[in-house]
Amino acid sequence: MIHARQLRKSFGSNHVLHGIDLDVQPGEFVVMLGLSGAGKSTLLRCMNGLAQPDSGTLQVGGIDLMARHSRRQLARQAAMVFQHHNLVPRLSVLKNVLTGRLGALSTLPSMLQLFRQSDIALAHECLERVGLAHKAHERTDSLSGGQMQRVGIARALAQQPQVILADEPVASLDPKTARSVLQYLRDATRGLGIAVVCNLHQVDYAREFGDRIVGLAQGRMVYDGSTHGLDEAALQAIYHAQPQAVTPAAPHPWQHAIPAGGLL
Ligand SMILES: Nc1ncnc2c1ncn2[C@@H]1O[C@H](COP(=O)(O)OP(=O)(O)O)[C@@H](O)[C@H]1O
Ligand SMILES: [Mg+2]
Repeated sequence: MIHARQLRKSFGSNHVLHGIDLDVQPGEFVVMLGLSGAGKSTLLRCMNGLAQPDSGTLQVGGIDLMARHSRRQLARQAAMVFQHHNLVPRLSVLKNVLTGRLGALSTLPSMLQLFRQSDIALAHECLERVGLAHKAHERTDSLSGGQMQRVGIARALAQQPQVILADEPVASLDPKTARSVLQYLRDATRGLGIAVVCNLHQVDYAREFGDRIVGLAQGRMVYDGSTHGLDEAALQAIYHAQPQAVTPAAPHPWQHAIPAGGLL
């Protein structure tokens, strides 16, 4: 489903990804953890064709992403879910989900937004998968934050992708809502055999929802394994990575003069 080998990406002199190897299977829910700036979003953007890797190989849903012409094909294979869902607030929920079908239409119907009956039926089905069938005809801006994120998931499902890439999809939600959104994302994708790579901040959610966890630190994969294997050492490697080895400063001369028990 996703196959990356020695993937590298720099922005000028900033080396962001240092040779990533990753394979994700159909139906697998992979949670990616890492400090801010570790390169998580960049890796997702490479997988979605939004960023071009410098070297290595990358295949998503059978499409070779190192070839530039493959971008449009990819739009059908990989759907993105964002932190700020990117929905059109004044449109109905159903219309927002239908925009997930635009990539599947040819140019003219796409420009005129002439959706087929089958597209509309699919959009309803996707809303059902995220528990929002009853909201189809409401304005999107009348929904709560959690419901809007579920519409974002339904729109991604409507693309009928092989892969969903979710970049911190629950970062702006309260814990209870966040859990329910992740539950919908996991259940819907698992039922359809869609592979998910989901960037998260919270280790708790990663343990609860991930089939597997990938830890990134400074553009290197420092953990790739089960949720059970995510122990203290793994968390240390993911969250306490230093930019470079720091030589401890020599003790100040007077520190030696203080007796072990302190001054008193
Ligand atoms: N479009 C860009 N142009 C220049 N630098 C970027 C761009 N996108 C990301 N970076 C840099 O890449 C590094 C990793 O960023 P990012 O992938 O967003 O990390 P994360 O998602 O783990 O917080 C950061 O140093 C960031 O400044
Ligand atoms: Mg990010």
